[in-house]
Amino acid sequence: MQNLGLEIFDMLTRAQLTSQAIYIVAKLRLADYLKDGPKSVEDLAQETKTHPDSLYRLLRMLSSIGIFAETKKEDKEQQQVDQSIRRFELTPMASLIQSETKNSIRNFALMFGLESFKNAIDDLLYSIQTGENSFKHANGLEIYDYLGRNQKEAQIFNSAMASLTSSVTPLISSMYDFSQFNTVIDIGGGQGIFLSRILKDNAKLYGVLFDLPHAIQSAKKLYSRESANSNGNLDHGILSRCKLVEGDFFKSIPATGADGYIIKNVILNWDDQSAGIILKNCLRAMKDTSSSSSSIISENQANRKKTSPKLLIIDTIMPEGNEPFIGKFTDILMLSLTHKGRIRTEEEFRKLLVGSGFEITRIIRSHDPPNLLSIIEAIP
Ligand SMILES: C[S@@+](CC[C@H](N)C(=O)[O-])C[C@H]1O[C@@H](n2cnc3c(N)ncnc32)[C@H](O)[C@@H]1O
Repeated sequence: MQNLGLEIFDMLTRAQLTSQAIYIVAKLRLADYLKDGPKSVEDLAQETKTHPDSLYRLLRMLSSIGIFAETKKEDKEQQQVDQSIRRFELTPMASLIQSETKNSIRNFALMFGLESFKNAIDDLLYSIQTGENSFKHANGLEIYDYLGRNQKEAQIFNSAMASLTSSVTPLISSMYDFSQFNTVIDIGGGQGIFLSRILKDNAKLYGVLFDLPHAIQSAKKLYSRESANSNGNLDHGILSRCKLVEGDFFKSIPATGADGYIIKNVILNWDDQSAGIILKNCLRAMKDTSSSSSSIISENQANRKKTSPKLLIIDTIMPEGNEPFIGKFTDILMLSLTHKGRIRTEEEFRKLLVGSGFEITRIIRSHDPPNLLSIIEAIP
């Protein structure tokens, strides 16, 4: 028989503890220590300077939800399982919390351990009571002003966004033909992970990364590190086709000569009024571009055919109804962390875009996973 009280008890305990436990795994690099095979709890505790029995209990809890698995060591001489040696190994989920793995979400887990984020989420009641963001209430500053003054936290935030973006970039690339553009500008493009991927996939494409100084500085470090390795996401071919530009999209967006204007996972951070300013500045940049010769990447403009500018908003669209959907949780995260940000319905996007001088030409939705991301294509 269904016991609803127990289900609520289960939700309360699991949600709070799972998030913290994953953060601890990321912080202590526990998954990294298991990359070469199973290890005993005693060895892991020694490597991570933790209390062996407490670590065992944490790993046992996580193994019950598919993060790590407990394995027993066989005593070869006695041909039986030695129950006293408690060992753990990686599972596919635990592998993603390693630091140097493809699509690693370790940085995202670290972000959930930042004091400023925890304070904001603990203070969510304030947002529900007032409609204002609890991040500012708890930490004294709006999130991007706060990050601008806290380099260490900004680095973790930017890397977390980059982790998230890396894991969805192949999906987005498969949903849209970016080769139709000469030059794209990624507005609020963070560390430039998405831009680097589409430049890599489209050899004739030029790109501009536009973001606040803290993000562009992170991007510069990442780009120079990658180019030094020259075996990562970026190579000299990409670097020569790319410019990194610092700025504030509320003041202006540079007239770059771009014909593709990408705004990915940015609009969800803002209320309609602020999002409207970003979109109107984007419209102005499109118009300035077509009337001025001061394009940043003029060489590319001169060499390629002229195309009309398009705006691509890459974001989650809130579906109707009661079905489970991760975006309903992200929406509350936006309420708590950002300046009245929200996950918008299709209707809300339409109103916002029309009010800012754009016409939607098509909406492409991801099928697998369904609706996780959509590309809203619009023209002035
Ligand atoms: C949620 S992150 C998304 C980053 C990236 N587009 C992605 O999908 O990974 C929002 C981005 O907006 C940038 N941003 C916030 N305020 C900005 C401003 N006033 N001007 C330019 N960029 C800004 C942040 O620095 C951050 O990189």
